[in-house]
Amino acid sequence: MTGAMRRTSTGVAIVAELVAGIGTSHVPAVGAAIDNGRQGEPYWAPYFDKIEPVRAWMAEADPDVCIVVYNDHASAFSLQIIPTFAIGVAAQFPPADEGYGPRAVPVAEGHPELAWHLAESLILDEFDMTIVNEMPIDHGCTVPLSVAFGQPERWPCRLIPICVNVIQYPAPTGHRCYQLGRAIRRALDAWPGDERVVIFGTGGMSHQLQGERAGLVNAEFDRAFMDRLVADPVAQAAVGHTEYMREAGSEGIELVMWLVMRGALDSDVREVLRVNHVPTSNTSNGLIVLEPR
Ligand code: DHB
Ligand code: FE
Repeated sequence: MTGAMRRTSTGVAIVAELVAGIGTSHVPAVGAAIDNGRQGEPYWAPYFDKIEPVRAWMAEADPDVCIVVYNDHASAFSLQIIPTFAIGVAAQFPPADEGYGPRAVPVAEGHPELAWHLAESLILDEFDMTIVNEMPIDHGCTVPLSVAFGQPERWPCRLIPICVNVIQYPAPTGHRCYQLGRAIRRALDAWPGDERVVIFGTGGMSHQLQGERAGLVNAEFDRAFMDRLVADPVAQAAVGHTEYMREAGSEGIELVMWLVMRGALDSDVREVLRVNHVPTSNTSNGLIVLEPR
């Protein structure tokens, strides 16, 4: 239970501080390029040059906790059980073996106390989260950590992973994801700790991995998505699955997870950084950093 609100000597409530929201693609080949020392190769250098300012920003922001909203790609859950929303409350999250051995990245340290607070707050707020005590994290989560932090010996912050099903139809709506973000924010605002938190929404941008339109990239859609995410997230949250599929490809639906991140922020945000880069594997790679004003 949350218990009594802690206050400073001047009576100000002590709650978690949401420092920023980050939207980023989670392309597995980016993780492989990092792990295999290929960041300087001609194919990869232009992308890694572009994300350098994000890593510098992250080092400066120095969060205590990262909440990473991502989709498990049938790594932790298989296809036998498909939770719409799940939260990892474990003390540690090892990298998943996605078929060629786990990535050589650190085991992420969890934050069970805050994760259980989030679970309690979200469920009492009528979001039926699946509580996950044991959860290896796949590229959906580890690649954003690598993008943000590079290759440290240990991840410099604790991790609370939140999974959203965007693999098996029906995925939750953009609106539901945005509302989940609002509920995460209410939970953070009621947490009597002084942690500095960054929330990630991952996946996207436009991409399709199979079928006739495999390799689809729609730069115009991606740019408009980022613009609306910043300026009018409520309008973006009203966009339906069919439009994502048609405009951004079958895997472009992952973008609804950016709306969870955006929902956690205030309505007015400052865009600190934006990156868009093509190609990285099959995906239009996007990254945005938003701070509360
Ligand atoms: C790719 C992108 C993804 O988001 C993913 O989950 C798997 C593969 C890709 O572009 O290769
Ligand atoms: Fe993905």
